[in-house]
Order: sequence, then structure tokens, then C-alpha cells
Amino acid sequence: MPARLPKPAPIETKPLSAHRSPGLTGSVRVPGDKSISHRALIFGLLSVGETEIEGLLEAGDVLATAEACRRLGATVTRIGEGSWRVHGVGVGGLLSPDGTLDFGNAGTGSRLMMGVVAGHGITATFDGDASLRQRPMMRVLTPLLKMGAEIVVSAEGNRLPLTLRGAADPVPISYESPIASAQVKSAVLLAGINAPGETTVIEAEATRDHTERMLRHFGAEVTVTPHGAHGRRIVLRGRPDLKPKPVIVPADPSSAAFPLVAALIVPGSDIVIEGVMMNPLRTGLITTLREMGADISEANLRVEGGEDVADLTARHSTLRGVEVPAERAPSMIDEYPVLAVAAAFAEGQTHMRGLGELRVKESDRLAAVAAGLAANGVAHRIEGDDLIVTGSAAVPGGGDVVTHMDHRIAMAFLVMGLASRVPVRVDDTAFIATSFPSFIPMMRSLGAEFGADFGADLA
Ligand code: S3P
Repeated sequence: MPARLPKPAPIETKPLSAHRSPGLTGSVRVPGDKSISHRALIFGLLSVGETEIEGLLEAGDVLATAEACRRLGATVTRIGEGSWRVHGVGVGGLLSPDGTLDFGNAGTGSRLMMGVVAGHGITATFDGDASLRQRPMMRVLTPLLKMGAEIVVSAEGNRLPLTLRGAADPVPISYESPIASAQVKSAVLLAGINAPGETTVIEAEATRDHTERMLRHFGAEVTVTPHGAHGRRIVLRGRPDLKPKPVIVPADPSSAAFPLVAALIVPGSDIVIEGVMMNPLRTGLITTLREMGADISEANLRVEGGEDVADLTARHSTLRGVEVPAERAPSMIDEYPVLAVAAAFAEGQTHMRGLGELRVKESDRLAAVAAGLAANGVAHRIEGDDLIVTGSAAVPGGGDVVTHMDHRIAMAFLVMGLASRVPVRVDDTAFIATSFPSFIPMMRSLGAEFGADFGADLA
């Protein structure tokens, strides 16, 4: 029974310290966008024939989705670096997989694939690592059960491991999501592909729209209209004939965030990050950093794979604290750990509002960020769902940061150590491979110094 599966074996931990570094210089390209990479593979699975993907993120989370697509019937082949081909079976052609679909650390892969399975008459067991096993799944299961899916068995609290029986004839629904979540929206839309009539998702705050864009790209009819002050109403006409289409994956703004903030806080830095996706539903961090006084400029604005991209230049900047409104959170939800690091180096107070969702990410990010700030001598407090950081250009550092299997906590605090007085050590860098396997060598290529000699005061 899935509920009795053994816990996945722990991966060997890899601690690392980050040291005060000379000015970062050079030009880099960060890997492909994680959200688009998951979706490209899934849409490849759902269309009959060959989908070619360029720039796929080859990292743990996405490779788990590739493996799940194989188990559901697709042939997924790596042609070269970032270049992949998916031979899909099409909507309705999916197979009940043998064995468990293991999504590792990936919330997006597991929740989107629950939407796919829910819209098909198949049964699949979902599992993941200790982090994913703690994350809430009812947010996607609530609408999927309304569409006709059933939970066969699950761990306590409807968490993973969980076996889901999909609906051969899913019911189209109109769902007003209580949470600003692109994963919830996407799960409902993916299940709605195989439902007759119209499936509607209403979101009070607009979230990343990669699923809507890709649905259209593969030939589905999707209508998007404004809803309220910041929201959207998305209507999908069901049972489209999805046709394979080439996908070019732009560079991930959530990965670009780390070298970007590093350049702003390390004196003497001047770097270029090439081809970063500038989808307005993903650029909240850039807006915020500019309000803080960051010197970030955009060049070579162009469209790649249906998304606006730009080369970003970031230079060392004198930052000041700002108010970050709650309604901006969906457009920078993964960037708060590294924004908190920027805030630590900014004069005055940065008040980040409405961060409740951070508690259910790969770790409780609100707690993990607060603990990391405390360990490194940065004044801060949590008030309800808000994080308030009082920064200064001289961050003490010297902390030992617990990453809790969370890639973004590891990368954010390594960035802090590049500019703090004393090195910052993170207990485990292994999970960086879930989203940004080249992070350490790429940062080293810009001049970042990492090493084992933790504790030396380099000030
Ligand atoms: C994602 C949505 C966000 C984000 C995650 C990727 C997606 O999660 O944090 O990293 O690709 O749809 P939520 O939907 O939980 O906000």
C-alpha cells in the first residue's frame, strides 16, 4: 500500500561556505525556466506525435517530470544539452503507470501531474522526498475531486504518498481558487483538457500564466479576462485537439535572481545575465529591487519562445528598505529568500507583506529565512504573515544556515556570504541540483568565492 512505502533514502549532505568576494564580473546565462520546462514535457505527453524542446532545465525536479511522462506512456529522449524530444500519446491515450511516480522535491511536477491523471480514467501513485511528503496536496485535490477524481489511499492529511484514480469523463467546473497559486490553476486546467464544455478558473490575484500560454500554443482555445482589481478569469474549451509544437524555454528569472542580487550587494560588481524571461507575472523581484535603488538595466529586448526576454545588467548598488505590497507576492513568490538577503544589505526597513504561502514551499521558508537572518546577525521580525528586515551595508554573517532540503534557502544564504563580513555556511547544497545544478560553478565563473574554511574573519 502506498501509505506504507519506506521513506526515500537521504541524499548525502554537502555543506559549503561562501566568502566575501571581489567584485563579480562577466556574462552568464542561467538555465531554462523550471515552470515552463515541467509544462513543456506535460504538453508533449498530451499531444500525439513529436514535441521538440530546446533549453529544457536539466535539473532534478524536471527530470522527475520527464520520468513520470515516460511512465504514463510518452517516449522522452534527450537529443543534446537542453534539447529533448517527447513522443506523446495524446489526451485519452495515457496508461496507468506501473509502480510509483516519484516527484522527488518537486511540488509543481507532482501537482500538475495530479491534474493530468485526474482528467483520465487511470490510477497513479504519487510520492516524493521527505520535503514533498510534508506539503499540502488538498489545494489541488479539492477541485480535482469535484471534477470526478478519487483519492484511493494517502498518507495522513491527504499528503504523499497518495494514489489518485482519475475520471474517465471529468466534469467541467468553474473554480474560484482560495489561494493565489499557479499550480492549483494549472491542475484544474490540465484536468479540464479532457472535460466536455468549459472549465473555468477564477483567481483573485493573477499568477504565472505559462499553462494558459502553452495551452494556446498547442492549439487549445483559452479566454482570459480581468477579474476584480488584480485577478483573472480563465476559460478553457475542453477536448481540444492538442498538436505538438516546438517549445523554446527561456532562462529562468527565479534562478537569475541569485546572481542578480549577488551583483547588487558585492562591491565592485558589474555582470550581465543573458536572455532572462521578463514575463510580467514573474518580474516582481526586479520591480522591488529597482524601488530599493538597484542599478539593473535591460538590453536586447526580444521575444523567444513566445516570451519577452532581455539581457540584464546588474551593478553594485546602495540599497534602501522599501514596502513590498502583498499583491506583488504571486509575481515573486519564489524570490523572497533572496529578497530578504538584499534587504539585509539595504539601509533601513524592508517590509514584505502577505508571505503566508512561504510556509508551505519546499520548506517553511518564512521560518528558514528568519533563522538564517538570525544566525547572521540581521535584525528582523515576523508579524503575522509579514517579514520585516532592518538592514545595513555591513552584514555580520558568520552564521550556520539550515537549508531544510530547500534549494532556494541554500542559494540565497550563499549569496549573503559573498558580501557579509564573515563567511556564511550552509549545511547542505545538495538540493540546489533540483533547480540550478550549475549554480556554484556559474557563480565561481563570476568571481564568487566558496570554500570550506568557515569561521575566518575576512573583514
Ligand atoms: C509554480 C507555481 C508557484 C511557484 C513554484 C512554481 C508553477 O507555486 O512557487 O515554484 O510552475 O506553477 P504555487 O502555485 O504554490 O504558488
